[in-house]
Amino acid sequence: MTVNASKLFEVHRVCIRSDWMAWQQIEIPDSIKTLPYHDSAEHLIDSANDAIEAFMLADESVIENFVTCDFHLLDQAMTWIEQNHLLAGNRFCELGAGFAVGAMLASLRGMQAVGIEIEPRLVEAAQAVADSLDNDAQIHCGSFVPRGVEELSEIAREVRNVDTEEGDIYDEIGFEIEDFDLFFAFPWPGENEFFETVVDARGSVGALLLTYRGREGMHLLRKV
Ligand SMILES: C[S@@+](CC[C@H](N)C(=O)[O-])C[C@H]1O[C@@H](n2cnc3c(N)ncnc32)[C@H](O)[C@@H]1O
Repeated sequence: MTVNASKLFEVHRVCIRSDWMAWQQIEIPDSIKTLPYHDSAEHLIDSANDAIEAFMLADESVIENFVTCDFHLLDQAMTWIEQNHLLAGNRFCELGAGFAVGAMLASLRGMQAVGIEIEPRLVEAAQAVADSLDNDAQIHCGSFVPRGVEELSEIAREVRNVDTEEGDIYDEIGFEIEDFDLFFAFPWPGENEFFETVVDARGSVGALLLTYRGREGMHLLRKV
C-alpha cells in the first residue's frame, strides 16, 4: 500500500471535555478498507462469528451491552497503525472485549494481547474460540475500570452501556494500564469519553486509543 503522507500527518490536538486531557487525533484514511487482511485473520473472524452466532442462538438471557464491531475493519486499522509506525510498544488491551476478537487479532500479529470482559459467559465462550485456534490472547474476566479515577464519577452518570464498577483486574493481568501501547474499544454512541478518561487518567504518554464508531468507522487518538 502507498501511504498518503499528507493524510498521515493530518494530526491535530484535540481538547476533550476539559483541558486536562491532551490527545492528538490521528485521521485514519478510508483507504484502509482496501488493505489485505493479516494472515489467518479471516479464518479467525469466521470462526469467531460462527461461535458468536451459536452463542446468541443458545443464550437464554440476552447480554444487552454486547454487540460486535467490524472485525475486518479492525484488522485493517491495526495493519495501518503498524505500517505507519505509530506504536510505542507491543502491548494491546481490548477494553470490554466481548468475544475478544480484537485481542486475538492483535495476538495473531505478534502483539502481547489482553482482553478484559466483565460477563463470565462471554469470557468462557471467547476462551473456547482462542483455544480452538491456539491463539495466545489472554482473556480476563473483570472490570477494566481502575480504582480511584476521580474524573470518572461524573461521566459514569451519563453512561448506560458500560458497567462502571471498579475492579482490580490489572493486578490479575500483571500489567498496569500504563504498560499498554494500544487500546481498543467499541463504545456505545456517546460513551467514548468514558474510555478516553480511563486511558487519559492511567495510560502512558504515547499510548493509542482506537475506537470503533459504527458508520463513522475507526477513530484513533494518541495520548500526548
Ligand atoms: C459493545 S461490546 C464490544 C465487544 C468487543 N470489543 C467488540 O468490539 O466486538 C462492549 C462489551 O463491554 C463489556 N463491558 C461493559 N462494561 C465493562 C467493564 N466495566 N469491564 C469489562 N467489560 C465491560 C460488555 O459486557 C460488552 O461485552
